[in-house]
Amino acid sequence: MKGAIVQCIGDLVKSNFGNDKWEKTLETAGMSKTSFFTPIQNVDDEKVMKIIESVCKVANISHAQASDAFGDYWVNVYAPKLYGSYFKGANTSKELLLKMDDIHDKVTKNIPNALPPRFEYEWKNDKTLILKYKSKRGLIDILLGLVKGVGKYYKEDLKVTKISNDKLQVIFPH
Ligand code: HEM
Repeated sequence: MKGAIVQCIGDLVKSNFGNDKWEKTLETAGMSKTSFFTPIQNVDDEKVMKIIESVCKVANISHAQASDAFGDYWVNVYAPKLYGSYFKGANTSKELLLKMDDIHDKVTKNIPNALPPRFEYEWKNDKTLILKYKSKRGLIDILLGLVKGVGKYYKEDLKVTKISNDKLQVIFPH
């Protein structure tokens, strides 16, 4: 997975829990505490999963809490800094979410070995979207946290529920 994900997790842990907790996280994951990540480098998926597990242990939070914290931080703090232009073209959470399939395709197109998640959109009615998640990584809880983060970014009260391991239901306020 792209180093951007790990860099974002690191920023989140450092700002919420302190530098020492990030060093502890890396050590718990079996890595050097001085490990450094850049957005475009590739980090083995296995390592990323270990880091996520370690964050849960070190910060003493559940996987669901970690997923929500990551989703919030990625959408509201990290991505606007690094990928601000993608947000400019969307004025509502509905518009941004509908661009997600295309954005993941574009942002990783020129990066060898990237394997972005892809999305399909199915409307139950004009306010209810079924977001189909296509990825072998199985990170539906992180997807849930990210979609909640999108609602917060646009100050919209989204109702997001997991309906299976590859589908979320999103109800928009309008
Ligand atoms: C402008 C905002 C965003 C950008 C630029 C972006 C970009 C990326 C990149 C570069 C990766 C790593 C892919 C790889 O290494 O193969 C990734 C992973 C991921 N993104 Fe985004 N992302 C954004 C917002 C979102 C949002 C809002 C969602 C939710 C709909 C989302 C869902 C995911 C998921 C679930 C993953 C984990 C990888 C997987 O499940 O296979 N992203 N994103």
